[in-house]
Amino acid sequence: MSKDIVHIFDTTLRDGEQVPGCKLDTEQKLVIAERLDELGVDIIEAGFPISSPGDFNSVDQISKIVKNATVCGLTRAVKKDIEVAAEALKNAKRPRIHTGIGTSDSHIKHKFNSNREAIIERAVEAVSYAKKFVEDVEFYAEDAGRTDNDFLARVCEAVIKAGATVLNIPDTTGYCLPEEYGAKMKYLKENVKGIHKARLSCHCHNDLGLATANSIAGVVNGARQIECTINGLGERAGNTSLEEVVMILRQHPDLGLDTNVNSRLLYDTSQMVSQKMGVMVQPNKAIVGANAFAHSSGIHQDGVIKNRETYEIIDPADVGVNESSIVLTARSGRAALAYRAKKVGYELTKVQLDVVYQEFLNYADRKKEVMDEDIHEIVEASKINIES
Ligand code: KIV
Ligand code: ZN
Repeated sequence: MSKDIVHIFDTTLRDGEQVPGCKLDTEQKLVIAERLDELGVDIIEAGFPISSPGDFNSVDQISKIVKNATVCGLTRAVKKDIEVAAEALKNAKRPRIHTGIGTSDSHIKHKFNSNREAIIERAVEAVSYAKKFVEDVEFYAEDAGRTDNDFLARVCEAVIKAGATVLNIPDTTGYCLPEEYGAKMKYLKENVKGIHKARLSCHCHNDLGLATANSIAGVVNGARQIECTINGLGERAGNTSLEEVVMILRQHPDLGLDTNVNSRLLYDTSQMVSQKMGVMVQPNKAIVGANAFAHSSGIHQDGVIKNRETYEIIDPADVGVNESSIVLTARSGRAALAYRAKKVGYELTKVQLDVVYQEFLNYADRKKEVMDEDIHEIVEASKINIES
């Protein structure tokens, strides 16, 4: 079955870098941008050029080195922002300006002290102005998650007429439920005139832990771009995690959707971004966490040793992890001990295993995790004659 491609818009270097204390310098951003290009993301949001000379410089340098991906710069719906972004992107092979404005009643009232009609006017002006510099203009309706669908549809229609190529529907505050976010996309798909001329994009935040679920609901209902970050980094509780959405689409071919990402580079990329940003990946993080392919309870270990698929839905090699790990703890059974002992050179008979296992349990009760070097000590202490 041929699959529809969902574009992956990586915003690690813009929204991801908004993690407090995680400022990257231009050198670090260049290394990450090169890796993202190699990973196969379709768009790299390189920064917010007007925000600082450093960010301008990063977007400018990244534009020069990225070979395949579109390079994107963020702006507010402000002429000066757009001019500066266009200047920073001038050397990009495929430049995109990402401009927009808040559309929820709360943003219109409290941020802009304005009204709906004036907001549509500013949105159209910004897109038309950006079109003078680049062909590819993405419009974001900030806080679209809490924006009334009828009004959102009117905004989308107006900016498509002005030339927007992509419509970003951010759940800026991470408020939506998956059904609600999916229904929003469906509504726009069905009610915005000219929607076939633009690509709908999901941009979800993780305040309720729903960013990934919402993004998937978005593409199931017609969006064809997901904005995400490596390791789900981002403001507050973060953004949609790139590795999660890529692997969800790959593990569910029934959805008929896929991405251009080379999943075998996911683990390495996650480690690289974690080191450069100084933010550790939580051990139980899906896909790239240290425990994502680690099995520690006896029942699971026995199953995985017999057949990996009993407790694993992803082949670790597909995301660049060498192999699943069998972690030895006091909850481990004989199968796991025999498996790990064999790896360090001991082929135990059933009788020998019974003896070594008793010694192992005593040892494991004192230690959180039994390592390879401990296995030698345990076998020694068992005082049995084993060919090693
Ligand atoms: O979350 C958000 O609304 C954003 C926009 C600026 C795209 O990051
Ligand atoms: Zn965001």
